[in-house]
Amino acid sequence: MSTESVPNERECLRIMREEGCKLSVIQHVCTVKSIAEEMAKRSGADLKLVRAGALLHDVGRSRTQGVMHVAESVRIAEERHLPEELVRIIQRHVAAGLTQKEAKGIGLPEGQYMPETLEEKIVCHADNLVKGQSGMQTLEEALDEIVRRGYPVTAERMRAMHVELSGRCGIDIDEIVRMLRADPPLKGPCAAYTSQKGARP
Ligand SMILES: [Fe+2]
Repeated sequence: MSTESVPNERECLRIMREEGCKLSVIQHVCTVKSIAEEMAKRSGADLKLVRAGALLHDVGRSRTQGVMHVAESVRIAEERHLPEELVRIIQRHVAAGLTQKEAKGIGLPEGQYMPETLEEKIVCHADNLVKGQSGMQTLEEALDEIVRRGYPVTAERMRAMHVELSGRCGIDIDEIVRMLRADPPLKGPCAAYTSQKGARP
């Protein structure tokens, strides 16, 4: 499928607002986008698709904050007839992906929750490196928390994804995190939206 129908940044922010996402969720997805787009530029991934995936991956948080936000995000994306490749990025963004068994175990509908394409992996991992609304963390910082919460298998999967993406980007992704931490990360429509409450994206 072509990426012609992939919404641009402004359109994604409009969708988030129309679905009733809080400003805190929008700040979070904008931070994810800033890491994801650096990875996309360096790896030659489809930038428009990565941006849209990053901005819309949590749209279902307008309905629920639990893990079912994934199913809600997918439902909203499908209802809006967003391109399939974008729906797949949204469906495959949790943790470092979920096996069928893991997804079933936490009550998600049947489906494929393991990122496969470069764009799916980029959004998934950028989300792992964002802490809360606008914080960023290195791989080790992200892993510490996951191990502490008792998910060593997920931690190893995340490390493998970090290594793979660092290879595709030609730089350790932690360096991207450090660079963005030193630089105000939000630019363009995201900066305008999050700095002016109620601003129309
Ligand atoms: Fe997220």
